[in-house]
Amino acid sequence: MNLPLILPRRVRIVLAVLAGAVFQPGMVARAAAPPTYHRDVEPILQQHCQECHRPGQVAPFSLLDYEQARKRASDIATVTEDRVMPPWHASTTEGGPFRGARVLSESERKTLADWADAEAPEGDPKDAPPPRTWTSDWALGPPDLILKVSEAFALGGSGPDEYRVFVLPSGLTEGRWIGAVDFKPGNPKVVHHILAAYDVTGRARELDAADKASGYETSGGGYGRLPTGLPFFPSGQLWGWAPGRRPQWAPPGTARGLPAGADVLLQVHYHKSGKPETDATSIGLYFARGPVDKEIRSRVVFPPRAGLFARPDLRIPPGDPHHEVTGDLTIENDAHLIAVFPHMHYLGKDFLLRAIRPDGSRQTLIRIDDWDFNWQNPYEFTTPVALPKGTRIEMLAHFDNSAANPRNPSKPPIEVRWGEQTTDEMCIAFLQVTRDDQHLRNRPPARPARAGGVREFLKQRSSSSQPAKQ
Ligand code: HEC
Repeated sequence: MNLPLILPRRVRIVLAVLAGAVFQPGMVARAAAPPTYHRDVEPILQQHCQECHRPGQVAPFSLLDYEQARKRASDIATVTEDRVMPPWHASTTEGGPFRGARVLSESERKTLADWADAEAPEGDPKDAPPPRTWTSDWALGPPDLILKVSEAFALGGSGPDEYRVFVLPSGLTEGRWIGAVDFKPGNPKVVHHILAAYDVTGRARELDAADKASGYETSGGGYGRLPTGLPFFPSGQLWGWAPGRRPQWAPPGTARGLPAGADVLLQVHYHKSGKPETDATSIGLYFARGPVDKEIRSRVVFPPRAGLFARPDLRIPPGDPHHEVTGDLTIENDAHLIAVFPHMHYLGKDFLLRAIRPDGSRQTLIRIDDWDFNWQNPYEFTTPVALPKGTRIEMLAHFDNSAANPRNPSKPPIEVRWGEQTTDEMCIAFLQVTRDDQHLRNRPPARPARAGGVREFLKQRSSSSQPAKQ
């Protein structure tokens, strides 16, 4: 028997031997007709890879034709086998399920591996699917309101990542319910991710006016500091964007409110490309289509803190490869969870969020085993998750502050505390929730508290300030 012909790739040989399955007749049959590029592989690359692997997008090379794929056949097999590509960090077996999840099926992974094993045959171009076409159009159709950064921001070619907040007056004369949001990074080579929020206090405009360049500077995750030195919190949140994000409508009957006169804030994370670049990013807002009964609000799970204004008491010792951080939040009214957005910086290693209901039932909401700062996005549940009053949301995360962590920004490692700089750390779960007892009957969105959401923020802080019970 010609072993090299029938045996799959090295890793799977080991697995197959362990499973005692090396000589199953089915494998011989599959090996007899290896997958071809046009018939079997091209459809997978079209569906799962080309949105990023094409010119001008985030990925460093294209996967649009046979030659491009053939050269990398074995890398393609490896990164898909190792679940590195397509990038999707949430566990697919625990937590979720999430809308727009980027995952390959077992059989798609096997097709790519078998194709590489068979030395990447091209097959017959007649078997090829029609090429996937790309438009620069908005995926959900024309937005009701497009806001664009008016003065392009000039980004240097080298140095650390930069964060800027752009302040875009909405010009809305009445409050609107927002059912979906989409983004168009002006320059996808350098825009790493975007968070959108809004301000009704005018303070963001003041911060903008005080900074000479377009927008104003901030550090990772924040929206800047007020002249008092206290962090500035937007009045409310909208959605976020990371490469490959597909816009989604909020679940029927739910929406986010955007009050009259609000300024939309875009917090853009820039990653430098080696050359000076410019960027002017746009946001497209879609007004809710049907009647809106419930407002989507943000709740925040923090690690424990000493007092209301204190920062979470995070101290990650240098050299510690597995530092544990916990936090929790109790839900005060029957609610539904629409999405979660975990946030840590470069030392983040893994992240787990679970719900413990008053009846004792436990449910993992999201589990990320290999945290990657570069791939942060809101995870939207396919079906909103019921959180009855009294449900405890528990957060459990680990940080790797050892020299062996290639992402550690400090060499040698130093003690790391809570802060907005990317050399500081954070450990936060943003929750998007609706209250079951709310019935808006299509009333327009109310203007949030004058203090720029501080009241709500303090309430959230105080309700998450008790140390987590282990
Ligand atoms: C959401 C965007 C996105 C999608 C979808 C995506 N990639 Fe990638 N890919 C990237 C980026 C960005 C990189 C560069 C490395 C990084 O930043 O992780 C990359 C790198 C790679 C690499 C090189 C890895 C290395 O270690 O050098 C391979 C091979 C690859 N992708 C294959 C694929 C395949 C195959 C698919 C589809 C099954 C896919 N990618 C889907 C964005 C994407």
